[in-house]
Amino acid sequence: MAYFVTTPIYYVNAAPHLGHAYSTIGADILARHMRQRGEEVFFLTGTDEHGEPVALAAERLGVTPQELADTNAQHFRDLMPRINASNDFFIRTSDAGHKAAVQSVLQRVFDNGHVYRGMYEGWYCPRCADFKTDQEIGPGDTCLIHGIPLLREKEENWFFRLSSFQAPLEALYAERPDFVSPRTRFNEALSFITGGLNDVSLTRARISWGIDVPWDPEHVFYVWFDALLNYYTALTYARPGEDLTSTFWPADLQVLGKDILKFHAVFWPALLMAADLPVPRRLFIHGYLLLDGEKMSKSLGNVLDPFEVMDRFGTDALRFYCFREVSFGQDGSVSTAGFESRYETELANEYGNLASRTLAMITRYREGQVPEVEVDPVLVPDFEGLAAEVAELLDRAEITQALDRVWQRVRRLNRYVEESAPWTLSKDPARAGELDVALRSLAEGLRVVTVLLCPYLPATAQTLLAALGRPSDSLAGAELGAEPGGARVERVAQLFPKVA
Ligand code: MSP
Repeated sequence: MAYFVTTPIYYVNAAPHLGHAYSTIGADILARHMRQRGEEVFFLTGTDEHGEPVALAAERLGVTPQELADTNAQHFRDLMPRINASNDFFIRTSDAGHKAAVQSVLQRVFDNGHVYRGMYEGWYCPRCADFKTDQEIGPGDTCLIHGIPLLREKEENWFFRLSSFQAPLEALYAERPDFVSPRTRFNEALSFITGGLNDVSLTRARISWGIDVPWDPEHVFYVWFDALLNYYTALTYARPGEDLTSTFWPADLQVLGKDILKFHAVFWPALLMAADLPVPRRLFIHGYLLLDGEKMSKSLGNVLDPFEVMDRFGTDALRFYCFREVSFGQDGSVSTAGFESRYETELANEYGNLASRTLAMITRYREGQVPEVEVDPVLVPDFEGLAAEVAELLDRAEITQALDRVWQRVRRLNRYVEESAPWTLSKDPARAGELDVALRSLAEGLRVVTVLLCPYLPATAQTLLAALGRPSDSLAGAELGAEPGGARVERVAQLFPKVA
């Protein structure tokens, strides 16, 4: 089956920070897991390059918007291999293919009668690139997100008839209780809709850094509509000569942060309906990574540089930490001290040591060959149904819960090492059979948890599966006893070495 997963596209008005890495790694974990299940995956990420935030940042720096976009898009592109994101395409909204597809979809929206000319007057935040409703305005006419004064804007625009999609959106939410998750976000979006929808500006006349409106050369499209459409347009040109929309549209899962809920859960499905296109299957809304209790953001300046973190702890450790420390879907604090502590106790001690002890004991007591015996029946019930449970959780993007289920088995295997005490068994030739069972069980248990950890710790897991002599990462093999004994193992260097 085809599986299309997306991340938000990132603004190029600043360099990438951990918040951006977070959305991308979350989507990557799901993409990798689906590939393990044998699905045909398309994983999309990229950059959002038009609009006022970028134009203003470029002006402050004294460069053209295109120059700023080129420089910063490259930083985001470079981030992807560094965090080991397995994206199938990287879209830039300044791509010619994107622009042409945006124009054609929005021309259809226009031709379908969902656009009219009108006068906009109201409050606008240039950082959000958003026109604010009464509920979204802070004391003294400020932005609730950025705390900066809002601008009073008045201009003639083309409007999108969002109000006429109120009933279709209500029907969508009634029919598809899992359209948006977690549930609190579903409720939030639904109450925004039932509270009454106003028409929204589809174009801007004051700015030129955007995609030209085909029916009015004085206007460019409002950046949010241009940006939202990336999820669809990418499929039209990512593989030259191929139209991937027939295989991958509608998207199966769109991952995004809670700050952009309204655009994705309200504007976006309405826009797609207006263009006669199917709406995505699910949106998963994650929370914020907080630093010192505040949202990490470029405007607040409290950002953790993901490159620095990876230099010290490694990419896998960053991927693991973000989803272990903060439950995906909730807000949660991250800190350098937190990184260090999880790295040491969980990655190095619990998982790393389990791996090195297992490989070392097989090398020492059985000359590097996993005994060809059955797995210890005492472990079987503890692993029963694990792969199915993980798959079911990840179908719902419950990344942290799935990881927790696997980690319970890592801990179970550590207890099994102590219970079976292979070092004692090895001293008594009469207990060689028991030692065979213990070593085989450890190798097999370690293999199963490692297959399930592949999406989280792709590099480490691959090294370890190879060292176990069973490199397949297929989810079908994530059952205790799915692989026979007899594999030759190799010792590996410490998987999570001490950090200076
Ligand atoms: N360009 C828009 C999205 C357009 S999608 C059609 C945008 N860009 S952004 O760069 O500001 O943010 C992109 C994503 O990064 C959002 O989902 C946002 O929630 C996420 N994060 C930015 N800071 C974050 C944290 N501190 N924590 C978690 N995610 C954060 O919005």
